[in-house]
Amino acid sequence: MEIKTVGVIGCGLMGAGIAQVSAAAGFKTFVLEVNEDVLKKGIGRIDKFLTGGIEKGKVTPEQKATVFANLTGTTSFADLKDCDLVIEAIIENVEIKKKTYAQIEAVVGTHCVIASNTSSLCITELGAGTTRPDKVAGLHFFNPVPLMKLVEVIRALATSQETYDALMTYARAIGKEPVTAPDRGGFIVNRLLVPYLLDAIRCLEEGLGTVEDIDNGMKLGCGYPMGPFTLLDYVGLDTTYYIANIMFEEFRETRFAPPPLLKRMVLAGHCGKKAGKGFYDYSK
Ligand code: 3HC
Repeated sequence: MEIKTVGVIGCGLMGAGIAQVSAAAGFKTFVLEVNEDVLKKGIGRIDKFLTGGIEKGKVTPEQKATVFANLTGTTSFADLKDCDLVIEAIIENVEIKKKTYAQIEAVVGTHCVIASNTSSLCITELGAGTTRPDKVAGLHFFNPVPLMKLVEVIRALATSQETYDALMTYARAIGKEPVTAPDRGGFIVNRLLVPYLLDAIRCLEEGLGTVEDIDNGMKLGCGYPMGPFTLLDYVGLDTTYYIANIMFEEFRETRFAPPPLLKRMVLAGHCGKKAGKGFYDYSK
């Protein structure tokens, strides 16, 4: 099957990035949000990134024009009717995702693939809630989507070879490097990344070093682009806490158990950069 028209559900941090790279690669792309205000904010995010890219000399005005020529923002599922692929990038809630898939299935053709950008939910369960489990898979992007080269393609128990092949081809067409991951909590990247981030918090709790020293240790000593606390603030402490809980539930291994400090920071609302406060202060 050939993918020509793509729908993206959700125009938040991830959805906006996915819609942008899809439109930039020449796919006719529809991005859907719950209302005009949220949609406007999401499209504004894409505009800001591309304008910043032009200022940095990384994006040409023609490339920006291509994105907006191929991109249509909508609040109506009916506009997704011609999509060959719909990528869902909404809240990490199984029931809400299942309801959304029913809304997608009500308008798209029987050939349409539905892919979830979930970072940790069970793809087999999401597929089982649809009438087309063979056409459901995971397509996990990384933040910031336009800059991170990787996409994980997740094969669920029922995902067909045709669906998998179509997603691998699509991932390459949008300039990403796809890796194949099994339908297991955290897939490949979060399976390794989350215990590392949780360990950094445990080290902090044990007094191993300050936030800055641990960050500098990993950044300058190992060449990581961000230290673990900068990355935690960037990804969101609430997101990390959520993923860790799902992985702990799946594997029952202590390395996935969220440390007490993480839970308390989330409860206090210190969720990282987006909240203005996490391990670092962003209020200024
Ligand atoms: N348009 C085009 N290019 C841009 C751009 C824009 N608006 N903004 C920046 N760039 C380019 C820059 O020109 C630069 O290119 P170069 O390497 O060729 O010089 C490159 O992108 C990096 O940008 P900056 O120099 O401005 O910024 P940094 O060097 O500070 O890098 C970063 C920023 C790419 C975010 C880097 O810090 C990084 O890789 N951090 C780690 C991010 C990470 O680990 N993400 C994964 C999180 S886990 C996840 O998402 C999974 C989920 O399930 C939790």
